[in-house]
Amino acid sequence: MVILLQLLVLFLTFHGMESYRRGVYNSRSSLRMASEFKDVIYQLPLQVGQEVIIKIDDILNNGMGLGRVKTSEQKDFVVFVPYVCIDETVRVSVTHNRGTYCEGRLVDIIERNNALRVDPVCPYFTKCDGCAYQHLNIDFQRQMKEKQVKGSLQKIANLQTSNLTFNQIVFTDNAYNYRSKLTPHLVQGGYDGVVMGFLNAANNEVVDIDECSIASKPINERYKQQKLRYKSERSVPLQRKTLLFREWDKGVETEEDVKLITTINGFKFSFYSQDFFQVNYHILPLLLDYVQRQCAGYRYLIDCYCGSGLFSIGLSGSFDAIYGVEINNKSVETAKENLKLNGLEDKNIHFMAAPADAIFQQVQAKHKVDPAVTCVIIDPPRKGIDDKFLKQLKKYSYQRLVYISCEPTTQSRDIKKLLKIGYQVVEITPFDLFPQTKHVENVIVLNKI
Ligand SMILES: C[S@@+](CC[C@H](N)C(=O)[O-])C[C@H]1O[C@@H](n2cnc3c(N)ncnc32)[C@H](O)[C@@H]1O
Repeated sequence: MVILLQLLVLFLTFHGMESYRRGVYNSRSSLRMASEFKDVIYQLPLQVGQEVIIKIDDILNNGMGLGRVKTSEQKDFVVFVPYVCIDETVRVSVTHNRGTYCEGRLVDIIERNNALRVDPVCPYFTKCDGCAYQHLNIDFQRQMKEKQVKGSLQKIANLQTSNLTFNQIVFTDNAYNYRSKLTPHLVQGGYDGVVMGFLNAANNEVVDIDECSIASKPINERYKQQKLRYKSERSVPLQRKTLLFREWDKGVETEEDVKLITTINGFKFSFYSQDFFQVNYHILPLLLDYVQRQCAGYRYLIDCYCGSGLFSIGLSGSFDAIYGVEINNKSVETAKENLKLNGLEDKNIHFMAAPADAIFQQVQAKHKVDPAVTCVIIDPPRKGIDDKFLKQLKKYSYQRLVYISCEPTTQSRDIKKLLKIGYQVVEITPFDLFPQTKHVENVIVLNKI
């Protein structure tokens, strides 16, 4: 009898440990355990290497889960950890103490959110830093991105989105294999002398990968060929090198400074292999259609940060005149070529190589467009617009602005400034241009009051 009881205790202990290891605590006893952890009081400061148990309350737009520990100082202390899901109870090992908060590494999932978790497609997920959300159901990823955009606007621009038209995030079915550009690193190492892949931010080392689950299939094919070639030729440089893979209408280019062409919505776009061109071709027709609807009825378009002219060319049928500005000479060169490629030379479309704020004076002095019937597209890099640019908008008071951004926090900062100079938000529409990653593209339409 005693032996039987001992065996039973052993079985239960082992079973419990195993479930815990796999993070599958869903039974009543696990719920009880998770709630027990909630009451643990921690002594501050938390030490690097110390393990804490937190419940995940939120996921922020940097991809990090946020939880809090109770402390002996009567206030909660924030801990950030990646690769978790909302409402999960997780064990975290502290990696950085930043004074007012800590960052950590996920050790174990004590209570798992089975409703929202999915198995990541990529075997390198969590080692390679390219994706933050492969462990989350795609619908939930998108809800979260909407919430993050709203959160930034509320926190940074003090804008209550509940009173505004906030459209559902726009997406396509291509949740994987959508990226048309990849820039992996190559370095000597590993058992066969070739390490090719992406960085792990924790140790700044290149993770060796054989394919990328968000890259397009043609890019993965080329990637594998290239990797095999490096292995057979033993031609990997000693210093870490960044490679380029760029998909276009006729395949994949790996050299810089090569002019490529891609076709979107029936328009041909030439661009240089290393230069900016949107990396998700699948969703671009939806983005172009949406922006076109927002600019409908205006006579003039000023396309700021125009790159190779995606919007100027894509919306070319809708305006009396279009003026594009872009700082990269090569992109302007291809934008001008794109007029020819699409038979638009006779249209009143002009591109200028200059900082974006330089366009307004030119347009007003030379062409005297009426700001009341002018729409301005603003599609800046991540850092957003600067005060010089803002001053020009204030000076000329264009009636409609369509602000497209891949960084909702700087966009929210700029929206706050635009509200101050007399604009009001008409509607907001996020686009899921980068599924599985923490990134989102957001479009905000504004009118001059
Ligand atoms: C997000 S991309 C948008 C490009 C284009 N609208 C498109 O969708 O293909 C931002 C562009 O702004 C350009 N850029 C960066 N700083 C600039 C500045 N100060 N003035 C004008 N263009 C700038 C970059 O070279 C890049 O082409």
